[in-house]
Amino acid sequence: MLFRLLKPAIFALDSETAHRFAIAGLSKLPARPGDSALGSGPLAIDVAGLQFPNPVGVAAGFDKDAEVPDALLRLGFGFTEVGSITPRPQAGNPKPRLFRLAEDRAVINRMGFNNAGAQAALEQLEQRRARGMSGMVGVNIGANKDSEDRIADYAAMARLMAPLASYLAVNVSSPNTPGLRALQDEDALTALIDGVIAARDAVSPENPPPIFLKVAPDLEPADIEAIARIALEKRLGALIVSNTTISRPALKSRHAAETGGLSGAPLKQLALQRVRDFRAATGGAVPLIGVGGIASADDAWERIRAGASLVQVYSAMVYEGPGLGARIAKGVERMMKRDGFTSIAEAVGTE
Ligand code: FNR
Repeated sequence: MLFRLLKPAIFALDSETAHRFAIAGLSKLPARPGDSALGSGPLAIDVAGLQFPNPVGVAAGFDKDAEVPDALLRLGFGFTEVGSITPRPQAGNPKPRLFRLAEDRAVINRMGFNNAGAQAALEQLEQRRARGMSGMVGVNIGANKDSEDRIADYAAMARLMAPLASYLAVNVSSPNTPGLRALQDEDALTALIDGVIAARDAVSPENPPPIFLKVAPDLEPADIEAIARIALEKRLGALIVSNTTISRPALKSRHAAETGGLSGAPLKQLALQRVRDFRAATGGAVPLIGVGGIASADDAWERIRAGASLVQVYSAMVYEGPGLGARIAKGVERMMKRDGFTSIAEAVGTE
């Protein structure tokens, strides 16, 4: 409601200022311990040993510096993923680097992992823990652009964040850090995952957070098979499918030719197909998190039936506001009952 009133003013701002505005607004939202208590309601689902109160989360990139995770959970999201966070602070690419494609219900970004760095995020996460906040917050980790040893960056991030993260999301799929996506190749990915697992286990052997891997939608069948094999072999907690695309389906907006990753409605079919592909390639043995172009309960339900245990949204929030998570969760509950399922887990992969 408030978002509807403010939308013309927000859209009059350039998109990056609008985003800062949204974070500042959310940071004013009081969050108390228990707001996001781990639930056992009808939408609860267990993924990688974690109990999610509902399957609708915020995708990485919205709350890069872990400034507002509890406000987002308070609005009704079942989980949120902060980051991507790199070891050292990083300015990202020159502005403008974030474009709203309103006619296409899409976004193009080439932010380039702008973030305040690991230390700043650690302080935020330590503070929320000290306040007794317990909701599900994943930490998405990345490497600095100028790093000489990117695998060492991911390992350092895993070591730092493991004690404070519900899960670690290894992001090897941003199109905006040159060469990063090459880490999706089989040998590099194996070395990377081994490094992250070793780093995590060195600091939290008691209760290690599961490791999720976030992949690009722009993958060939052989890449999908290789990633699925590694996910099974290394017992990854989940695959996050997917990041933004470098492909350009037909777009109407004047920003269509901007360089960067495309997200929102034009990514929907590709990201849905990749969930189907990974479901087939893993035989359903690795949980999937569906992300890309989800803007409604229908979209979320379609992704769940295609094989996603959880879903995430970002671009649709730009157009619909942060209340979208709660609306999608409610709609998914109605669809679950309509179709005769007693839990989300029962509906996963039943299309
Ligand atoms: C992103 N995304 C992203 N993903 C990631 O793993 N780390 C990041 O830092 C970012 N940053 C980021 C910034 C902006 C402005 C956007 C729009 C997106 C990708 C995001 O998490 C998601 O995978 C895609 O946007 C697809 O989902 P939607 O937006 O179509 O719901």
